[in-house]
Amino acid sequence: MENPFETIIASYIKDKVGISEDFLSDALCEKLKQHLLGLNAEDRMRAAAIGNDGKRVFNDLVRTDTIYWLDKAHNNDFENEFFDTMDAFVAYLNESCFTNIKSYEFHYSLYEKGSFYRPHYDQFEDSSKRQFSMISYLNANWQTQDGGELLIHQKSNNQSISPTQGKTVFFKSDELEHEVLLTNARRMSVTGWLKRD
Ligand code: OGA
Ligand code: MN
Repeated sequence: MENPFETIIASYIKDKVGISEDFLSDALCEKLKQHLLGLNAEDRMRAAAIGNDGKRVFNDLVRTDTIYWLDKAHNNDFENEFFDTMDAFVAYLNESCFTNIKSYEFHYSLYEKGSFYRPHYDQFEDSSKRQFSMISYLNANWQTQDGGELLIHQKSNNQSISPTQGKTVFFKSDELEHEVLLTNARRMSVTGWLKRD
């Protein structure tokens, strides 16, 4: 099997959108999904905002997912196993591409049936810390009719990406406008940003 770090970086360089089909193992996806569903059952997922600290607004015309921020301070085995993978990836990226990523932030996202996220960029107006966006999907047996594609707006051709389990997508946060199309099934992911402080 190819090295998923190599695969995602090579496709990023070629297409501006890096994709690896098996960035996270099925075993880890399954654990993360169970954790997310547990948090949801305990009512610990929260409506996602747009904008950052100073001007957070909730606008369900723009996005209707709920989120939960991962944190090393939680000392949670599932979160830590995910962070181990990201630490390895960031080290690899910094070494091979001189990206100088200093930190990251990740949250679980849950899109219930009927949810979406309208076209947007991932950088806030007042901060350029977010360098790269990364989304890992946790949806086993995703069907075409389930929709929920990540649609990346590109000059030449929009790119439609189905949120299938294990797949991870990687792109420059300030460069590509993108959206999550209406989902017809529950859609789960870990979404985050690699940052330069
Ligand atoms: C986001 C986002 C895309 C996806 O959370 O900013 O664009 O495929 N997510 O979930
Ligand atoms: Mn986004």
